[in-house]
Amino acid sequence: MSGIKAKISGVGMYVPKKVLTNSDLSGLIDTSDQWIRERTGITERRFVSEGESNSDLSAASIRKVLSKTGYEPGDIDLIIVATVTPDMVFPSTACVIQEKIGASNAWGFDLSAACSGFLYALSTGVQFIETGAYKRVLVVGTDVMSSIINFNDRSTCVLFGDGSGTVLLEPSTDDAGVLDFLLRSDGSGGQHLCMPAGGSQRPATHETVNQELHYVHQSGRAVFRYAVKLMTEVCQEILKRNGLSPEDIQLFVPHQANSRIIDSSVKRLGLSPEQVLINIDRYANTTAATIPIGLAEAEAEGRLKSGDLVLLASFGAGFTWGSVLIRW
Ligand code: UT7
Repeated sequence: MSGIKAKISGVGMYVPKKVLTNSDLSGLIDTSDQWIRERTGITERRFVSEGESNSDLSAASIRKVLSKTGYEPGDIDLIIVATVTPDMVFPSTACVIQEKIGASNAWGFDLSAACSGFLYALSTGVQFIETGAYKRVLVVGTDVMSSIINFNDRSTCVLFGDGSGTVLLEPSTDDAGVLDFLLRSDGSGGQHLCMPAGGSQRPATHETVNQELHYVHQSGRAVFRYAVKLMTEVCQEILKRNGLSPEDIQLFVPHQANSRIIDSSVKRLGLSPEQVLINIDRYANTTAATIPIGLAEAEAEGRLKSGDLVLLASFGAGFTWGSVLIRW
């Protein structure tokens, strides 16, 4: 190890302008504002407008980070994009973004880990800083879930939204930095949350489209149970191995899939509500974007101070899950 630590030196977010409230949805499908709020904590979500793509949202969130930190696009070495809704299967959305923002000295790649994508990407980006290979790495968590949700399936279409969040990683010059990460996966859970067709195993045909297989399919109850259990365990483990107790954490930023999942995990972890960031009410589940959007909002609200200990946690398709511990 080089002894170099990676820190988050800038955060930014962007969500599309179009707002879809629960009441808007109840005009389209058999649901109600009350059911969605009570079962999920969601009040509204943002959806892209026609012609607006994942890379557009990402470029907007990156530009915010660049303008805050004072860097030019040409200063960036690497762009890692966590997403399950790339503009296209290939070329990578990282390449599309690289061209869009004019990051002429950067290379990049997409990383697929659904709702844990940002934590996987962040932990990957940290390696390039810690080895001394790079000085400035952009980690983007971004998804356009409106492109893969089925408005004939009320049990999934009310849950998701579109958005993008970005962090800049740089070598740390003080105590700030990513202290630890704990990432897990278990492919046996794959069947519970997936998009069955459109990949090489089941390429798109008229039949797969007619069967609505190019959308999110989820066994909500099964996913819920695993999410609470595994997200809690991975947080307990990272706290324990760093000699920390729940009260040492100033801010907990969990993946925003369901406020009931967050509440249960928070209770099991022994955290108090003031320690927790929740914004699912306004954005719903933006998959890879929930955590960086949460960080950007926390920073804007003055909830992230130098020296704070911040705990991030996620659970999602794969199954994938993990936690990351940061000194801000
Ligand atoms: O981020 C990726 C990971 N994903 C997650 O973490 C999601 C985990 N799962 C969940 O958040 C919850 O399971 C859901 C929000 C998806 C569903 O909540 P639930 O409390 O588990 O509801 P349920 O699936 O058990 O359905 C309860 C009832 C059913 O009716 P019956 O069979 O009891 O008559 C559903 O048909 O609610 C009905 N229902 C709805 N009613 C109105 C399902 N969706 C809706 C809806 N509006 N949108």
